[in-house]
Amino acid sequence: MTILTPSQRETLLSCADQFGTPTYVYFEETIVRQISTLKEHLSGLPLRLLYAMKANHAVPVMKTMLREGLGIDAVSPAELEYALQLGFPVDRVLFSANNMTDGEMHFATKRGVMLNVGELSRLESFGQAYPGSSVCVRLNGQVGAGHHEHVITAGDKSKFGIPVEQIDAIHDIANRYELTIVGLHQHIGSGIMDTETLWQAISVILDASVSFKDLRFINVGGGLGIPYRPDESSLDMSSFDRLIVEPLKQFIADHPSEDLSIWFEPGRFFTAQSGVLLAHVNTVKEGTVRTFAGTDSGMNHLVRPAMYGSYHHVVNLSNPDGPEKTYDVVGNICESSDFFAKDRAVAELREGDIIGVLDAGAYGMSMTTTYNMRSEPAEVWIESSGDIHLSRPRKSVDEMVADALGSH
Ligand code: LLP
Repeated sequence: MTILTPSQRETLLSCADQFGTPTYVYFEETIVRQISTLKEHLSGLPLRLLYAMKANHAVPVMKTMLREGLGIDAVSPAELEYALQLGFPVDRVLFSANNMTDGEMHFATKRGVMLNVGELSRLESFGQAYPGSSVCVRLNGQVGAGHHEHVITAGDKSKFGIPVEQIDAIHDIANRYELTIVGLHQHIGSGIMDTETLWQAISVILDASVSFKDLRFINVGGGLGIPYRPDESSLDMSSFDRLIVEPLKQFIADHPSEDLSIWFEPGRFFTAQSGVLLAHVNTVKEGTVRTFAGTDSGMNHLVRPAMYGSYHHVVNLSNPDGPEKTYDVVGNICESSDFFAKDRAVAELREGDIIGVLDAGAYGMSMTTTYNMRSEPAEVWIESSGDIHLSRPRKSVDEMVADALGSH
């Protein structure tokens, strides 16, 4: 769990003051720190880092990734087009749309972006449309992992990737259409703290790679977890080095090809800890067995607690030294799954207080909805220099209504 410094707390309060709530605030310095940490641990490997922009596609976040030399894992035409318009070079973008349509395949290919294909039938239709081309295939090595069953993306029951057992069929299609398989990809899940399982999955792909003679890269996916709870530790980077980085270096050293590189494509690891969702406490209500602190945000803005039972630490920014009391911290949405924290000790919450929901920089804003016709939160960017920018405003009631009315 992120521990806010007193100056970050002051900054957050002044953001709430200046821009109102609900608001996502992102600290650039945290993102830059996370990127450097990963780069440092992977140094010595022929490497490319992509950013899984589904975690958070705010413009300043994307620009930071661009400046840091990262590429992009894009999974929809809009993600792809947005990344290109922000200046990411085509050869640093990989298009991994799930259940890709013909239209999506042409969209990416016309722009010169490489496809990452996870279905045999799509490989076949790509071969028919673009014989003689290069392509990446997503494998399912049957080893999955993640913080919740909803985020495990490999294994017998997962819809993702082509099972390694069907590699002969991949070669067969590739031969028929003279496709060059230049990349192998896997992504086994999200929020992984267990480096042993991650290595187990990677080693399946490395073993499978032996039959692919023209590989230029092996993309081992994202999935690196971060600590959300106060008693949770960070990913053990020394075991990451020992169990993953060292064997990868050995694999590269032993590999016959001179120009094979290893790609990683994290989302959460880069951005989760940078983000705080600010909300205003509208109502404090004593129920018969619970005290409810009702805010002006909710599951429409951060769905992770409702969707996965995820823990996000909640701090009372405006009364940090108040006596701790136990609350259900809830939102203003008409659902009983609308909560940030249940039965949680927080410094006394009073009507008018500002709370911060921590570690919300990944899969927060990007999973927001406008359910109940409530606007998405505003987004604010805190540069490493301390400069503060409103990067996206909230919508007014009039704008929400105009959106809904459309041309009627
Ligand atoms: N690559 C692919 C192909 C992916 O599907 C994903 C995430 C990533 C990379 C990045 O994974 P990360 O490094 O962020 O774990 N909404 C969930 C997480 C879903 C992740 C989906 N795919 C959550 O809030 O926990």
